Amino acid sequence: MRTPDSNADEKRAAGVAAADMVRDGMVLGLGTGSTVAWTIKRIGEKVEEGLEVLGVPTSYQAQELAIAAGIPLTSLDQDPVLDLAIDGADQVSRDLIAIKGGGAAHAREKVVAASAQWFVVVADSTKLVGSLSHPVPVEVLPIAKRLAKSRIEELGGSPQIRQAKMKDGPVITDNGNFVIDADFGEIEDPGVLATQLSEIPGVVEHGIFENVDQLVVVLDGEVKIFSRE
Ligand code: A5P
Repeated sequence: MRTPDSNADEKRAAGVAAADMVRDGMVLGLGTGSTVAWTIKRIGEKVEEGLEVLGVPTSYQAQELAIAAGIPLTSLDQDPVLDLAIDGADQVSRDLIAIKGGGAAHAREKVVAASAQWFVVVADSTKLVGSLSHPVPVEVLPIAKRLAKSRIEELGGSPQIRQAKMKDGPVITDNGNFVIDADFGEIEDPGVLATQLSEIPGVVEHGIFENVDQLVVVLDGEVKIFSRE
């Protein structure tokens, strides 16, 4: 569990609204975090009312929530192309680039989002910014942590190995790796940084998502939808 929920009402409103995008017969990517948890719950209610969908979870958390909600699950091996993926974000810019990985799930989240024909981010108002500045989560092989830290420093970032709560030592991802939170301050060009981070040996995945098609966000108490041009 991460920090207690601020903006719980906005998260709920955005998460529930995104469930309305789901249509009968879709294969869905199911994201991780407290906002998309509302989407999963609402999709589960629709399944109970007769909606037929299959879900691919992005984490153990999403898997547990989907099972509890009664959403039948599949995998990318069985269904490699998803109709729609819905997920949360730690920060998203107005040009629809997101930073994800606050829950250390961004590697699977990125694979699932990239497998989807349409990728929707759900967010509360605090997540929407003019320019991205959230530390970028970088999942690394444990053996690569020192190398990755020094390469991130060479790129101008300040790297911190994410430490676990309720366990001594580092966070271990669902894939058995470490997460480095790399603080670059305001990120001038997220596309360039994304490429630079991907090139570091031992980096499994970073949290810059350039493929957001649509953002469902609560602004001034109302759900707003922004789409990629
Ligand atoms: C999981 O690793 C993240 O990418 C989450 O999707 C992101 O941190 C958003 O989480 P909340 O909806 O809980 O803020």
